[in-house]
Amino acid sequence: MITKDLNLVINELSNGKVIGLPTETVYGLAANAFDLQAIQRIYSTKKRPSTNPLIVHIGKKEQLSSLVTDVPFKIEQLIEAFWPGPLTVLLPKKDHVLSEVTSGSPKVAVRMPNHPIALHLLEKLPFPLVAPSANLYNRISPTSAAHVEKYFPEIYTLEGGACLAGVESTIIAQESNEILVYRWGAIGREDIESVVGKVVDKTTSSQKSIAPGMSLKHYSPLCPLLVSKEPGFLLSISPEKRIGVIWFNRVKWDGPNVTSFEILSAQSDLQEAARNLYQAMHRLEEQSVDLIIVERLPEYGLGISMNDRLDRASTK
Ligand code: TXA
Ligand code: MG
Repeated sequence: MITKDLNLVINELSNGKVIGLPTETVYGLAANAFDLQAIQRIYSTKKRPSTNPLIVHIGKKEQLSSLVTDVPFKIEQLIEAFWPGPLTVLLPKKDHVLSEVTSGSPKVAVRMPNHPIALHLLEKLPFPLVAPSANLYNRISPTSAAHVEKYFPEIYTLEGGACLAGVESTIIAQESNEILVYRWGAIGREDIESVVGKVVDKTTSSQKSIAPGMSLKHYSPLCPLLVSKEPGFLLSISPEKRIGVIWFNRVKWDGPNVTSFEILSAQSDLQEAARNLYQAMHRLEEQSVDLIIVERLPEYGLGISMNDRLDRASTK
């Protein structure tokens, strides 16, 4: 059920229910961060293992100090630069933050989303919200209220329009004096390094399976998905009858088995491409193609974040 009624949603959240929450990255499945039953409801609704922790969303920077024991200097600088925005910080949690939120970890993930409706809601609530992306476990993340409705028709989803960033937040931590990146997202490496200098990439393949919750298979459509620098070659050898292709900036190959195609950004703009990627994947999934082939994006900025999601979507 899609709604614009903020009071209705506040009522649901206050009664321990989960709701669909618009943010600038993707829609979240939100609940009261201090209500154990509501948290358990998120895991069961999403069919997500409880070993995969949740991000706490706050409406004001000052709320951070009520959740964590310490904010090291570089993280403080990044918060100043990017909040509200798609930056999630991992920090040592205070005792009252439930271990079910962090899956037992001593660190909690926190972010302040940059979406007017989410911020308005968070400011009105007497508690912060936990919110994983509002997709069933391992499926494509939602970037519109209609996508959330597709997965969870029984909950209220707050209408907030199409997500402007379109890819999840970037997740960082600090150890000694170094910033570690656990997930590349809507803020690219260059932007982070312009504030704090060189960062350590913890998302490389050997780390993927051991970082908490960073499972290799993720973000997948129902049909197989392949990602390639040369989609034309794959197209020429794929026996599938109905293939959907996602091109970065223009169509570079066509064939009788291509039943639909998407172009992410005719201007080769990576931000526009990120905004369109999950939308395009949802549309092709809805057309029940047998195979989705995606052109690999350039390996810089948001291209790195999108390639990460595509590699996970294609891991069998
Ligand atoms: O943009 C986003 O971050 C969106 C919107 C809704 O805010 N949320 C999101 O949540 O992407 P989710 O749950 O789909 O992905 C969060 C990731 C998971 O991979 C999880 O393992 C990691 O963050 N994470 C959360 N808490 C953590 C913790 N305490 N320690 C390590 N990783 C954590
Ligand atoms: Mg997710």
